[in-house]
Amino acid sequence: MTKAAPAPQSVPARAASAVPPEQRALIGLTGGIGSGKSTVADLFVARGAGLVDTDAIAHQLTAPQGGAMAAIRDAFGVRVIAANGALDRAAMRALAFSDPAARHRLEAILHPLIHRQTESEIEAARSAAPYVIVAVPLLFETRVWATRVDRILIVDCPVELQIERTTERSGLARLQVEAIIAAQVTRADRIAGANDIIDNSGGRDALEAQVEELHRRYLTLRSSSGAPPG
Ligand SMILES: Nc1ncnc2c1ncn2[C@@H]1O[C@H](COP(=O)(O)OP(=O)(O)OP(=O)(O)O)[C@@H](O)[C@H]1O
Ligand SMILES: [Mg+2]
Repeated sequence: MTKAAPAPQSVPARAASAVPPEQRALIGLTGGIGSGKSTVADLFVARGAGLVDTDAIAHQLTAPQGGAMAAIRDAFGVRVIAANGALDRAAMRALAFSDPAARHRLEAILHPLIHRQTESEIEAARSAAPYVIVAVPLLFETRVWATRVDRILIVDCPVELQIERTTERSGLARLQVEAIIAAQVTRADRIAGANDIIDNSGGRDALEAQVEELHRRYLTLRSSSGAPPG
């Protein structure tokens, strides 16, 4: 993946230092599988945005010695723990498939931990960057973030392109990708719920131009929410 350097005409990050940390904007970034979320996040980071990645946080929590592992072991036993102490995803998936209550129990363990860690990383990122992108792949499906962020930014492209890019990159079979897409909100619902939309049906230059334009807007956007409630 090309890590693009900020374009020469890019507004320097310090241009927004006039916005106090607690008023710096929080942008929720989402989109379907393979739509280009990670690519877009990289382009914002290259321009100085702060980034908090909820997927990465979930993985850290279920890594060996991760913050969720003791509770997961208590709830499900060693059958879902891999030899290295991480969550055995395949075993957990099989268990959740045969027992839907297990999936809810896992979510009841993970979601509050992810939420707390995400909030703490947002606070840290906010004091270091002019605005913060929080990447939440299932923002519309899980709902907690939709009202927390100042803007919902989606990366959009035709479903056929999502399938092509995902199968090429991940080696997942077409049918598996289609099943994942079917379990996510529809493209139309995502577009209807968005404040800002990046069209990733074109090439990388077109993507970069859209990121640049949003970046300029986010630099001066003031957050209406500030600190999390409670
Ligand atoms: N405009 C583009 N042109 C060509 N390839 C692209 C474009 N945007 C993204 N890609 C490629 O498509 C694949 C998926 O992009 P990316 O990983 O950014 O999507 P994602 O939404 O983060 O996916 P996931 O849901 O799996 O996390 C990657 O291999 C990426 O390099
Ligand atoms: Mg990604």
